[in-house]
Amino acid sequence: MPFYPSVDPIPLPAPVWLLKLLHVVTLALHFVAVEMLLGGLLVAVVLSLFRSSPNASVAARALARRLSIVMTFVINLGVPPLLFAQVLYGRALYTSSVLIGVYWIAIVPVLMLTYWLLYRFAARLEAGKSAWWVGLLAWLLAGSIARTLSTNMTLMLRPEIWRQMYSASAMGRFLPSGDPTLTPRWLLMLAGGMFIAGLWLIYLSGRSTFTADEKKFAAGLGGKLAAGFGIVYLLAGLWAANVQPEAVKAGLAGQSVYPLYRLSGFAGYGWLALVGVAIVLGLVAGFGKIASAWLSWAGVLAAVLIEILFTVYRDGVRDLTLFSKGYDVWDRAVATNWSVVGLFLVLFVAGLGVIAWLVSVVARAQKVMEGAA
Ligand code: HEM
Repeated sequence: MPFYPSVDPIPLPAPVWLLKLLHVVTLALHFVAVEMLLGGLLVAVVLSLFRSSPNASVAARALARRLSIVMTFVINLGVPPLLFAQVLYGRALYTSSVLIGVYWIAIVPVLMLTYWLLYRFAARLEAGKSAWWVGLLAWLLAGSIARTLSTNMTLMLRPEIWRQMYSASAMGRFLPSGDPTLTPRWLLMLAGGMFIAGLWLIYLSGRSTFTADEKKFAAGLGGKLAAGFGIVYLLAGLWAANVQPEAVKAGLAGQSVYPLYRLSGFAGYGWLALVGVAIVLGLVAGFGKIASAWLSWAGVLAAVLIEILFTVYRDGVRDLTLFSKGYDVWDRAVATNWSVVGLFLVLFVAGLGVIAWLVSVVARAQKVMEGAA
């Protein structure tokens, strides 16, 4: 192919379908954590401004306390999809990463600063000090990381501009321009953050560590956020889908060499439907101010399923875009080493088991009321 560096002569160690499956699962979980961070942080910042309202202060502190933990999930659930993406799309992804090298490398220090600010934000809230500016700074930095990731994930789909960018700077100093898909894609993630933050508050409203009054507050606010930003999220999704090239739209409708991508198209419809269901859930919780265990868990389930469907759709968009430009992700030499794949899967499942056990230990730990000083 004229555009892409030559393929690595070492064959893939596992079938493409397995690598893609693991990629989609881990990336969807990364997205759940990312959305909790982007949305939960902004909601906590706004709530922290209402210092005279005890309910708002308790909710702000409850979110802020959890954000540094959410960040560990953002990072740890970001590494596996990065590895799978490099294996499957390395020739495109490495190239785009080099072309925006300065910004791409900058993610690491910016991430460390964001992480530190999250701790400062929570500590200032616990101490009863004004903290909104610390949280806002952390949110702006996290939003800029999201922007860099969206920039890279869309630049990797535009081999036609790589040569010209490299000629302009071999140092990776410039950002690409002129891509109609970049901004809708980034805004979709930001809107999704507020929507998921609403579902997160609905989940929290079912926890026994809140008083009845605090639960009502969390359910009311969370429900309204989920319903309101659910609509914004839907509109942003439709916008992002609408600006995709015709070849991608046709492929998602099943008209491609790989009819399999019809599944991604269906995932898109599933996403629309489920966000719709979550909006109704938000309306019930928000206007009924109902805090109940079933609403809590329905919110969690909706959030995870919505991100899985979103990731399957997004995967189709990437593969079809690359395919229309001569990059076929399925066209790779594979020499599966089943013993290594087996060992990996055993460790993967064991790892999930350990996480489940950790969660159960936390769930059984002695409860401290959220509003306690
Ligand atoms: C504050 C921290 C972070 C934020 C806000 C964030 C946000 C995002 C967003 C918005 C996207 C989607 C971009 C798009 O397609 O438009 C994304 C994708 C991704 N992120 Fe993160 N991320 C963060 C940290 C990380 C870290 C630390 C890693 C890895 C170590 C990571 C790995 C990835 C990967 C691999 C993808 C895309 C994978 C793919 O498309 O195959 N992220 N992230």
